[in-house]
Amino acid sequence: MSNSLNRRAFLGTTGAFVAGSLMASPLASSALSKGKKIRTVLVGTGVRGTSFWGKTLVQDFPDIVEFVGLCDINPGRLEYAREYMGVSCPTFGNFEKMILETKPDLVIVTTMDSTHHEFIIQGLDMGCDVLTEKPLTTDEHKCQAILDAERRSNNKLIVGFNYRWSPYPTKIKEMLQSGAIGKVTSVDFHWYLNTYHGASYFRRWHGLRQSGGTLWVHKATHHFDLLNWLLDSDPEEVFAYGDLEHYGSNGPFRGDKCRSCSFKSECKFYWDITQDKRSMDLYVKNEQYDGYIRDNCLFRPEINIYDKMSAQIKYRDNTYVNYSLTTYSPYEGWKIAFNGTKGRIDAWLDIPFMNSENISQSDKHELEMSQEDEMLHRDPVILHKLWEDYQVYNVDYSKTGHGGGDKLLHQQIFETPGKKDPYDRPAGVRDGAMSILIGIAARKSIESGHPVRIAELTDLEPRERRI
Ligand SMILES: NC(=O)c1ccc[n+]([C@@H]2O[C@H](COP(=O)([O-])OP(=O)(O)OC[C@H]3O[C@@H](n4cnc5c(N)ncnc54)[C@H](O)[C@@H]3O)[C@@H](O)[C@H]2O)c1
Repeated sequence: MSNSLNRRAFLGTTGAFVAGSLMASPLASSALSKGKKIRTVLVGTGVRGTSFWGKTLVQDFPDIVEFVGLCDINPGRLEYAREYMGVSCPTFGNFEKMILETKPDLVIVTTMDSTHHEFIIQGLDMGCDVLTEKPLTTDEHKCQAILDAERRSNNKLIVGFNYRWSPYPTKIKEMLQSGAIGKVTSVDFHWYLNTYHGASYFRRWHGLRQSGGTLWVHKATHHFDLLNWLLDSDPEEVFAYGDLEHYGSNGPFRGDKCRSCSFKSECKFYWDITQDKRSMDLYVKNEQYDGYIRDNCLFRPEINIYDKMSAQIKYRDNTYVNYSLTTYSPYEGWKIAFNGTKGRIDAWLDIPFMNSENISQSDKHELEMSQEDEMLHRDPVILHKLWEDYQVYNVDYSKTGHGGGDKLLHQQIFETPGKKDPYDRPAGVRDGAMSILIGIAARKSIESGHPVRIAELTDLEPRERRI
């Protein structure tokens, strides 16, 4: 049953998850842990950059984070970002100039996925710590270049994997770590995006593989990172299928963009961006500078990513994973099950008929991206040991900000960077690489019709145990 809890109860229950100290944070020796205000620049002043890595940091960490520069290719969005974030630092169209003039400790990268590598590599080479949004990058060549840059640098590279920090996956990690089901042998993992959130990827640059690497990389990097972290082993080989059957040229009609479309009344996906002030300010008012259309038609023929995806992943420790991603489900949620030598764990979130949910599917995506955690929930993880009755473990968490993960990720990075984490949640370059390499291997497998070995893609050798 999904219940709302008050904030005090939430803090009380989640406290158990963040106590303890086993694994070292990759930030332990970085500039972030030296106790001074962090001179920070941000490149990519879009929705994620200006909110979670912008305004939220300004509001929540005024004594720790100091923005000294913002960079974007869109001058209108840059100006809006400064105002929205409430900062007065200079803005730049040129990244190198920004680094030379502002001499930051930390570069935050929140640009379009296919450009992350440029700023990660230049940031590291110019002596900064770098914090990048997922995915690390979009293909294996850029990934190798990032690995090389990180090795020649004395600075740190952090990948902002927020789902690891959500209390619900953390509970699963705790159970697996404790050996509750023995050695994990196989996993079923299925993720369903609804017709609001799933469709949103097809409206803009995410719909082009050259910009987002397909949802195998852009979206599934979250899921593959969760798998790698939960299983504590590296992926070894991937076989996949994928197709585009719903969006793109499959649509019954198409228009220029929702605003001016002549099929507004017939199209179930019609979205009135003019009712969304933030999207108007960020995108529509600044279209004149770069032609970035936020309410593009999701049936436009140039869409070249998959909308249904399925993969089998073999891990180095011989765990087999069955994974799927669907982008036009009537509901948004996920299911995961771990089979082990001593039993099984079943977990799921947001499956409406299993939780008697009463939230609308359109509101769900808003909550996911929001940082205001008023509503608190309780959901079960099921542990079923062989020859015994099943046990139900209830986990309390917030549904806002990626299952409450966003907030805990911030706290770890900016308040307690040196603190060791019992669940090994801080993520570095190897984690970022291994999660995208599964998606890149899946793409290659679809193109070739053959399984693809992770070791063929970069010089990283899959390990039986991750660390
Ligand atoms: N972890 C999460 O849950 C999560 C959620 C949302 C987005 N993200 C990630 O955040 C990043 C940004 O996503 P978004 O939704 O804010 O996208 P967005 O399109 O709103 O913003 C991207 C910004 O980057 C700018 N940009 C593009 N190319 C650039 C370049 N070469 N130099 C400088 N600026 C450039 C664009 O003008 C735009 O302002 C993506 O990598 C995405 O994967 C992560």
